[in-house]
Amino acid sequence: MKREIGVGLIGLGTVGGGVARALMERRDYFARQVGADLVVRGAAVRDLSKPRTVELPPALLTTDVDSVINNPRVDIVVEVVGGEEPAGSWIRNAIDAGKHVVTANKELMAKSGPELLELAHAKGLDIMFEASVGGGIPLIAPLRRDLLANRIDSIRAIINGTTNYILTRMASEGTTYAAALQAAQELGYAEPDPTNDVEGFDAAYKLAIMASLGFRTRVRPGDITVEGISKLDVADFRNAAELGYVIKLLAIAERVRGGITARVAPVYIPQAEPMAKVDGVYNAVQVEGDLTGTVLFQGRGAGAEPTSSAVVADLLDLAHAIVLGARERKYWGPDSDVPVLGPEALETRYCVRVRVSDRPGVLAQIATALGAHNVSIAAVIQKEADAERGTAELVIMTHRARETEINAALKEINAMPVVSNIGSFLRVEG
Ligand code: NAP
Ligand code: HSE
Repeated sequence: MKREIGVGLIGLGTVGGGVARALMERRDYFARQVGADLVVRGAAVRDLSKPRTVELPPALLTTDVDSVINNPRVDIVVEVVGGEEPAGSWIRNAIDAGKHVVTANKELMAKSGPELLELAHAKGLDIMFEASVGGGIPLIAPLRRDLLANRIDSIRAIINGTTNYILTRMASEGTTYAAALQAAQELGYAEPDPTNDVEGFDAAYKLAIMASLGFRTRVRPGDITVEGISKLDVADFRNAAELGYVIKLLAIAERVRGGITARVAPVYIPQAEPMAKVDGVYNAVQVEGDLTGTVLFQGRGAGAEPTSSAVVADLLDLAHAIVLGARERKYWGPDSDVPVLGPEALETRYCVRVRVSDRPGVLAQIATALGAHNVSIAAVIQKEADAERGTAELVIMTHRARETEINAALKEINAMPVVSNIGSFLRVEG
């Protein structure tokens, strides 16, 4: 029986450092669990002179990634650098060299996961990627394996901690988006260039991975309609609270007639929903299976320790399989070509904030335009009359309507001389 399993790290930053630390500090426990000792045989970094949060023997550090991948004493390669390239090439090279792979790389797995898994499976190897979605929250293993018996009907997720932190601050303190973003940057949650998080791309990568697994089809990031949070206004949060809602950036994939829809956008959700109470940097994912009913996962979606928990769990799983001599376990299984439909297939409720001339008949004109497109009004509140300009803000909540219809109505409303501007247009989910 194999007594030692060699681990090669590519990346020794936040996640890689956490993984190395856990492997060293819990070495005996892991050895007892796996039946073999997990030994770090090399760690590739970009800058050898950088101070590290973990003390590895200096001889293990290198800037030569290939030397880690091709080290014959490395059985499992852990890619914790990120980005599409060169990470994708490193993983292909590792598979070519007969190594199992663990990665935390959401962008790569969202864009190329199925092809990389195919490559690995063809060689009797596996790629594990629990840390790519939701940090320490178990999500990939449940979707890949534990919920396999179900037909999944929907996945609804708060899956980006940075934006959830910003939205929580805007809601609780009435601060502007800019002020809340600055606070998130000062605390190290948001990156200096926050685009990936605040414009919804990070959440879309994670949704593509979860939806591909859950619906057993191929959902590409480009199939997902993506809207970020940067245009939200303090007024949207005030109105939400008044109407009994909160605003969350939700990643949603659901089964509809003829396919599935997938979207990331800030939405109103009722204050009483469990997802409405997920605040700060916390993540939550709600999965609807036909056998299980609703299953809710919640926890810390980022950070060295939660993320290293997911990476190490994958490592232990693979190491145990190596010890047992097991071949790869194929739980990806795109099983059908369920099409991903565009936003025109969407039907939900909407909340529109529109600034209008404050005079008789204006609301009637707007109601007529909505009615002409089969959009029925559920509630209206009038806010913030501006006596000087003679305008007022209307907040209109609709019943369920088709997205194509409300878009057509809003186009007409926007062109009305009595309308100054449409301040916001948010879906109401749940
Ligand atoms: P990070 O702190 O920036 O660390 C990246 C590491 O990669 C560093 O050690 C860096 O070396 C190394 N590196 C960069 N380019 C390299 C190159 N060309 N050759 C060799 N090494 C190179 O990143 P991270 O936060 O740990 O994230 C790593 C991965 O985990 C990403 O895919 C990320 O999306 C994912 N992830 C992160 C979190 C989180 O909470 N941070 C959560 C979930 C998933 P130096 O140290 O020398 O610069
Ligand atoms: N930037 C991500 C977030 C963490 O804010 O949730 C890494 O997936």
